[in-house]
Amino acid sequence: MYRAAVITLSDSGYAGNREDKSGPVIQELVTAAGYQVVSAQLLPDDSALLQAALIALCDGDQADLILTTGGTGFSPRDCTPEATLAVVERPAPGIAEAMRWNSLQITPRAMLSRAAAGIRKGALIVNLPGSPKAVKECLAFILPSLAHGLEILKGDANNCAR
Ligand code: MTE
Repeated sequence: MYRAAVITLSDSGYAGNREDKSGPVIQELVTAAGYQVVSAQLLPDDSALLQAALIALCDGDQADLILTTGGTGFSPRDCTPEATLAVVERPAPGIAEAMRWNSLQITPRAMLSRAAAGIRKGALIVNLPGSPKAVKECLAFILPSLAHGLEILKGDANNCAR
């Protein structure tokens, strides 16, 4: 069973002015997919705080999959992709490409997410957009393939038949 950590990026959520609905949606969907949720954090849109949280999870071997939600758009405070790419050692652009390509079949606004993904140490970090709707849609596209990526990252893979 792989360990999943969830980080919600939201200034208004962190200030207590908006309920975090997307974090719990991620927790529910990854649990249903067989992951063990080991942590859930709510952070403001702050690059230094996000980088520190990602580094702690990866370098402390606390999670295998780290899913962030929010902060991928065009708001001046949105910094999730930049913070993620600042800490990853190996980018995994295909995951964000798959989310955007599939999401564009649902809404043209999918082009507005700058989400990124990549690997640091033994953990895969994936940015998801901020709304619960987008989270559900994007996870439906990527979750079935992420397990195989983690198997390869962890040296657990037997084959690539699927
Ligand atoms: N992707 C999917 N699948 N479904 C959506 O509804 N919303 C888009 C996009 N990606 C959306 C989506 C919109 S409207 C925005 S502004 C961007 O994600 C960025 O969202 P964020 O700033 O909350 O991360």
